[in-house]
Amino acid sequence: EISGKKWTDVKDLNDGLKDQAVLVRGRAQAIRAVGKKMAFVVVRKRGFTVQCVLTVAQDVVSSQMVKFATSLSRESIVDIEGIVSVPAQPITGASQQVEIQVRKLYCVNMAIPTLPINIDDAARSEIEIEKALKAGEQLVRVNQDTRLNYRVLDIRTPANQGIFRIQCQIENIFRQFLLSEGFVGIHTPKLIAGSSEGGSAVFRLDYKGTPACLAQSPQLHKQMSICGDFGRVFEIGPVFRAEDSFTHRHLCEFTGLDVEMEINEHYSEVMDIVDRLFVTMFDGLNETCSKELEAINKQYPFEPLKYLRQTLRLTFEEGVQMLKESGVDVDPLGDLNTESERKLGQLVLEKYGTEFYILHRYPLGVRPFYTMPCHDDMKYSNSFDVFIRGEEIISGAQRVHVPEFLTERAQACGIDVNTISTYIDSFRYGAPPHGGFGVGLERVVMLFCALNNIRKTSLFPRDPQRITP
Ligand code: 4AD
Repeated sequence: EISGKKWTDVKDLNDGLKDQAVLVRGRAQAIRAVGKKMAFVVVRKRGFTVQCVLTVAQDVVSSQMVKFATSLSRESIVDIEGIVSVPAQPITGASQQVEIQVRKLYCVNMAIPTLPINIDDAARSEIEIEKALKAGEQLVRVNQDTRLNYRVLDIRTPANQGIFRIQCQIENIFRQFLLSEGFVGIHTPKLIAGSSEGGSAVFRLDYKGTPACLAQSPQLHKQMSICGDFGRVFEIGPVFRAEDSFTHRHLCEFTGLDVEMEINEHYSEVMDIVDRLFVTMFDGLNETCSKELEAINKQYPFEPLKYLRQTLRLTFEEGVQMLKESGVDVDPLGDLNTESERKLGQLVLEKYGTEFYILHRYPLGVRPFYTMPCHDDMKYSNSFDVFIRGEEIISGAQRVHVPEFLTERAQACGIDVNTISTYIDSFRYGAPPHGGFGVGLERVVMLFCALNNIRKTSLFPRDPQRITP
């Protein structure tokens, strides 16, 4: 019977469909009986909800059907066939401002009666929770570990639906923009012989009897692709870091958005790409993701990101000076710690009115071995970091493309050059000057939406204490 009817999405239900027969599939989010002759089932699909009304009436809805409806467990998948009606009063418990007068109700798949997370509770903002608790309402504050343990349920909240759609749109804009600029999408191996970024944050493994690593970034192979004459490349792929630190912004596996390109004269050509790419991205998100941003804002209120049409660029020295003038002393040839980065973010916002900026010409000593030193002062390098709301989302640089110098730099940084010999050899066959950058996708989503933890923007996060679900 149902097959002849028109399937309608919950989000498309509106008063234009008044008196028409529709068929919708969704989850039973809330079920309420009113005596024995009436029941309400709120049906949710992708964050949109509609109130469905069952009223006992001869030859249409039986009292058994009302009883069956009230026996549904929350989150069960249901098919509802009925007539669209427009109530006189505004509807408060559902997103759609029409109701469905139910004629038929089928349970496609029943959820277990007691769920580990109540979606209604998991979707509330901190302010709503406080209010509800004060009003004496029974509700459970869903903590982060519980959410992540039952991520399949947690993902169903409107805010989470929004977060991952925004993540997808960021990838999409990244790809479209770079394709339009003549970049080629590539895929580099994730099983590699040596560490690419150095340091201890590398997962080591046995590769059929040979010591190997999970790639800490596509760094070496994206550069080798430039040696392979692609000119401009990008990659969207997994990045593995054996992080020891358990922080709000470090994962053991994240998605890297990587770029590498030939440069003609100056590493500012790479920063020009960052500038235009991110202004395009932020504009695009604000234009195309307003519903998603609204859903996130409802649960986790935030102010839209402030950014300039042309991205501000400051040198590291200028940054250090700004910090100094505000009473924060940092090592002028050291790296900035999280606290000083945040402080500088505040100072930049006050002075320039932007929460997105580039800091460049970093001290050479705090950058990876492959970074090109500044030609006028070897203490500094042709490198940069990019910040959103005072936190790093990108690091980038011009690379050393002269093999002898690259070997020297690797040795000076304590790297066993035997493990990267094929990489260094790639530069012996003629390599153009080049540079690039790496972006952490989860960080971009987190900071664009001013969320407080990167686990919120990773679908199934991997951190030093979590490898499931
Ligand atoms: O700063 P990172 O380590 O730089 C590189 O991997 C270079 N190969 C990039 C380049 O082309 N020069 O990582 C790049 C970005 C960081 O800015 C940050 O956004 C993200 O990757 N990132 C992490 N995100 C989540 N968890 C972690 N543990 C991360 N480590 C870096």
